[in-house]
Parts: sequence; C-alpha cells; structure tokens
Amino acid sequence: MAAVLEVNNISKKFGGLTALNDVSLLLNEGEILSVIGPNGAGKTTLFNCITGIYRPSAGMISLSGKGVRIDSLPPHRIARFGIARTFQNIRLFANMSVLDNVLCGAFSKTRESIVDIAFRTRKNKAAETAINERARELLNFVDLSDKLYINGCSLSYGDQRRLEIARALALEPDVLLLDEPAAGMNASETNSLAVLIRKIRDNGAALLIIEHDMRFVMEISDRIVVLNYGKKISEGAPEVVRKDKKVIDAYLGEGDQ
Ligand SMILES: Nc1ncnc2c1ncn2[C@@H]1O[C@H](COP(=O)(O)OP(=O)(O)OP(=O)(O)O)[C@@H](O)[C@H]1O
Ligand SMILES: [Mg+2]
Repeated sequence: MAAVLEVNNISKKFGGLTALNDVSLLLNEGEILSVIGPNGAGKTTLFNCITGIYRPSAGMISLSGKGVRIDSLPPHRIARFGIARTFQNIRLFANMSVLDNVLCGAFSKTRESIVDIAFRTRKNKAAETAINERARELLNFVDLSDKLYINGCSLSYGDQRRLEIARALALEPDVLLLDEPAAGMNASETNSLAVLIRKIRDNGAALLIIEHDMRFVMEISDRIVVLNYGKKISEGAPEVVRKDKKVIDAYLGEGDQ
C-alpha cells in the first residue's frame, strides 16, 4: 500500500513546552488512521503542523505520491495540494446559508483570475455553474440537501459538523483531516458519521481522524496512532492498541475513556 502523507520526526515547541516530540507517521492510500491520546497530548498541534498553521520546530512532512515537501508551505498552498481539514471548534461562516458555506470552500479551489471574476466572463460563468452543481452534490452526499438555504449556524450540532465536512470536500482532497468529528454528537449522529466517513474513503480519500469517542475509533479505524505528552507511545490495528499497556496506563484517570 502506497503512503500518501508522510510525517517524519516532527517536533513542535511553544517556548519551553514540547507539544510534539519526534513524532512520525504514515498515512496510506485509502486508509482511515486515527490519532488518539489524552487532552493536551499534541493531536491538534499535529494537524496544525500538517496543514501549515504551525511550522514544525524540526522534522519533515511530505506528500509521498506527489513528491512534495509541505512543512514550510503556507496553509492555502497545502490545501491546493489536496489536504483539507475540519476544526475541533466548528468554524462555519457566520450568517451564511448551508449552500454558501460550501460554495466558499469550492471557490477557494478555483484558479479563476481576478479579471474573470470582476467581469464575469463566459469562462467564469461556466465555472460558477459547475461549482454550484458540485456544492449541491456534496450537500446531497452529506445528507443536507433539504437544508440548502438555512443559516449554517442554526443547524443542529451534528449537521454543522457534516456541513464542515462538505466544505472540506469541496477542495477535492486526497487527504482529509477531521479533528474530533463526533464531539457533541448523539449515538445516532455518530453512527451516520461513521457511514459518511466510510463513503468518503470509498470515494478515494485517505482520512486522518482525531477522536476521543473510543467506541467510534475502534470501529472506524484501520490503524491507530497514540500520542501522550507529545510523543507517539503506540501504533497499530485497533485490537493491538486497545491491549497495549502503555496506552491503558496513559488513559488511567481519564474518566470513562
Ligand atoms: N499556540 C500555542 N501556544 C502555546 N501552547 C500551545 C499552543 N497550541 C497548543 N499548545 C499546547 O500544546 C499542548 C498540546 O495541545 P493540543 O491542542 O495539540 O492537544 P490535543 O491533544 O489536541 O488536546 P485536546 O484533546 O484537549 O484537544 C498543550 O499543552 C497546549 O496547551
Ligand atoms: Mg485537540
């Protein structure tokens, strides 16, 4: 199986705090890889390094298939290389309809020149129609097609998370990063999220997922990477990681996780 994303010996320091300490991982084609670990373990920092929000203090991140090193690129260039994400705290565009939220994601992918946009050239109008159709397709894909004109922020929590996923998919990513997609969802929303994630994978993307809901993680993941205090302490198939003493010890005292 070919790797699509390669994280090699990444460290990230914030002053005296080492949030990531020499972390490496491979995300393979068509894989669902979860990153778990107690609060503050460095999971979101890892996503921020991969998507260019933070520049790692050391190490290398590359898109293996494309032969591109991305760890010193700005976020918009990394997104253009096919890495999209959602955020731990939902970040929808305020006061915008569900459809417009996805259209904004889709427009950021187009390479229309400012002249085309300003003068609404024929080329630009054709692109606009195609983007509109694509946005509707995506909203159908995440089961929100009956809510196109509702304000995104007035959707239920679970639907807001699905909308964020649709907006990320508008970038047509090869790699999709989801930061706690099941947070705040009820059991039935979590079940339909699992179905959606598998559909995304079946359509050809590889997924890296941060999640605290252990039942969900164990069910959905092909492999799991475990972080604790910024270090990778375990990695493997769900049944292997679940029995790893280092993982059990890291989670002791972490409530019912
Ligand atoms: N911008 C920043 N400046 C300073 N410290 C930071 C910054 N971002 C993260 N940290 C620190 O780095 C550590 C890892 O944080 P991170 O958000 O990656 O954890 P996490 O594993 O995502 O936790 P959670 O499960 O609570 O979301 C924490 O100690 C956090 O306080
Ligand atoms: Mg986090």
